[in-house]
Amino acid sequence: MTDYLPYDENQELDNNTSDNHHFRDILEQSISRRALIAKTASGAAALALASSLAGCGDSDNSSSLPPTETVPNPPAIDPNAKPEQLNFTPVAKNLNDIVTVPDGYEANVLYALGDSINPAYSDWDDNNIPNGPSFQFRSGDCHDGMSFFGLNITSGRYDPTVSEHGLLVMNHEYINPTFLHPQGPTKVDGRRPEDEVIRETNAHGVSIIHIKKDNSNQKIEIVKNSIYNRRITASTVMSFSGPASGSTLLSTRFSPGGKLTRGTHNNCGNGYTPWGTYLTTEENFIGYFVRSKTDDAHRLPQETVALERYGLKAGSSSRYGWESAIGTIEPQDLYDRWSADITAGDASKDYRNGPNTFGWIVEIDPFDSRQNPVKRTALGRFAHEDCRASRAREDDNLAFYMGDDSRGEYIYKFVSDYKWSENDRNGGYAVGDKYMDHGKLYVAKFNADGSGQWIELSYGINGLNELNNIYPFNSQADVVTFARLAADSVGATKMDRPEWVAVNPENGEVYVTLTNNSNRGTTHALDAANPRNYSDPEGGKGNVNGHIIRLHEDKDTTTAITFRWDIYLFGAEAKMAQNINLSGLNDNNDLSSPDGMWFDPRGVLWIQTDDGAYTDTTNCMMLAALPGKVGDGTRTITSSGQETIVGAQVSDQTLRRFLTGPKGCEITGVTMTPDYKAIFINVQHPGEDSRSYDKPTSHWPASQTNSSATSRPRSATVVITRKDGGTIAG
Ligand code: FEO
Ligand code: CA
Ligand code: CA
Repeated sequence: MTDYLPYDENQELDNNTSDNHHFRDILEQSISRRALIAKTASGAAALALASSLAGCGDSDNSSSLPPTETVPNPPAIDPNAKPEQLNFTPVAKNLNDIVTVPDGYEANVLYALGDSINPAYSDWDDNNIPNGPSFQFRSGDCHDGMSFFGLNITSGRYDPTVSEHGLLVMNHEYINPTFLHPQGPTKVDGRRPEDEVIRETNAHGVSIIHIKKDNSNQKIEIVKNSIYNRRITASTVMSFSGPASGSTLLSTRFSPGGKLTRGTHNNCGNGYTPWGTYLTTEENFIGYFVRSKTDDAHRLPQETVALERYGLKAGSSSRYGWESAIGTIEPQDLYDRWSADITAGDASKDYRNGPNTFGWIVEIDPFDSRQNPVKRTALGRFAHEDCRASRAREDDNLAFYMGDDSRGEYIYKFVSDYKWSENDRNGGYAVGDKYMDHGKLYVAKFNADGSGQWIELSYGINGLNELNNIYPFNSQADVVTFARLAADSVGATKMDRPEWVAVNPENGEVYVTLTNNSNRGTTHALDAANPRNYSDPEGGKGNVNGHIIRLHEDKDTTTAITFRWDIYLFGAEAKMAQNINLSGLNDNNDLSSPDGMWFDPRGVLWIQTDDGAYTDTTNCMMLAALPGKVGDGTRTITSSGQETIVGAQVSDQTLRRFLTGPKGCEITGVTMTPDYKAIFINVQHPGEDSRSYDKPTSHWPASQTNSSATSRPRSATVVITRKDGGTIAG
């Protein structure tokens, strides 16, 4: 047995102890605070009075939002394709060990951990797990964010109208070592065996797979001998661009000039650009590093401040122990880089800056295997969960919206200096240089009256200079590399773990999932944008079930520095009291811990869960929604004694459960073919709670078609189609 247990995200979720300006704002609001509410019947009866719903025109001033100035929407969506209502039969909550889809639909497993993407490599065999290096040509683990890129088979380039051929690009966030290795992870003389470490690093990163759809029956298969199939791993060489590229903050033994690095990992949510490239995110990257207790003694105080703000305190151990491997297959340097200790005279001779080389948005051109993927430093460094482009409009600057998934972290946007030009489609990394290296980074502040501000994070602006008393910023390289410290300094709003971001193609509004926050109402004070603190009898406190906030840029332009917001949806169990089940969810649409989220190009919103609070009743799920717009509810609501602003009430006509996953999984990653006839989702970490490789609590994906399967669980991509060949949710 081993001392490695399944990864616990609590290890790296709490690093914002800043007393930023926002906290003062909260104290200044004369809002009654914090009622601890139980969902028991008696608690509900007693505390229902604490909740008040007030209609528009109520005497409360904060319900009257400023009017929006609107401009006509461009013809960005096909109005014939958006369903007017959700017609599929909602899937019931359940604890079955399969993916369950609505009547008339079918789910097929497409791509599971260890599956070969090259004919020279054998198929997966549970009883003969392939060696580490072979995972360079196999599916990684813990599938996450994912996008489909139509492939014009004649030109070999991106075509957003093609469904018959495409490149399916997906993240492999982390690993489930219990099942990745023949008998779980091991150590020999205190060190991780090199083959296991290579298997683990290769099982991280990104997959690019060529898939083919038969338009007569919607069957999808992987084109195994395609030249497009490839893996990007935690060892792939990458370039830096943007303001931190070439900075001393990125200097390492591998690249003293700070222009290159190796690998991407903890790739969580994703994004895609209108020019046809994929954006992967580096989320909980910090836990891969070790730092000795004595390292602080060699550091400037400001370096220690920065390391701690990102969660790497002196004395931290690493999640997987990659630094302990002895290099016989690969150079030793590949393992040494996971120690962030100062061990040499300057940064060009050790990996003291290793942590600074992760935490970025990485652009990958799925159609171009010759050039390095590019880490776009202008978009800031934090625990990136997702990165969604604004609508591609020739009359507006491109923008990218992003969340930092940790308790009490922030929502950011990057606004390009350039407006979109259709001439740039298929321009690859050179076009990425244009739109993503030049622009302004902002962080969001949500006010109690439904307004909000984007606060610029630029060197020399808003107090981001050498005299700053949180961190002495000397350049834009400092600001982007330590974006969290910059955001603390300008008083951004601490959110309930911002996960995925979705942009409504109809009106450009931006939705952000706030998955949950056990510290809300305690170490993180309640505020209007994060208004809930209650307890769950099965465990959990604070914002137990999460919510989805949305915002509308003023004057409908991405360059706006002000916006209006409301809360679109509150997660809750249907049986909870009205003052917790604030969105009036019922058995057809109740959910907990929204995480993955995507607007398909028709305007259907897909919401996925990564939950631990409702899993006594149901496995994680995906729902479809037809939301309205910011301000459609004009309601104020008082939750836990905290007033907030919510949108129109949902019903099971506008929000309903589309699928449930197998045991112990999270549902994450969603994309479709452009004809809307196939939707892809990922099942991450089925059987996550298994304590040993020989005692799996799930047998998925084998259990999908064989209820007596005994195989080990594997993360996998699933494709869902309609038996009659119709459009999904159409
Ligand atoms: Fe990787 Fe925040 O989930
Ligand atoms: Ca997530
Ligand atoms: Ca997650």
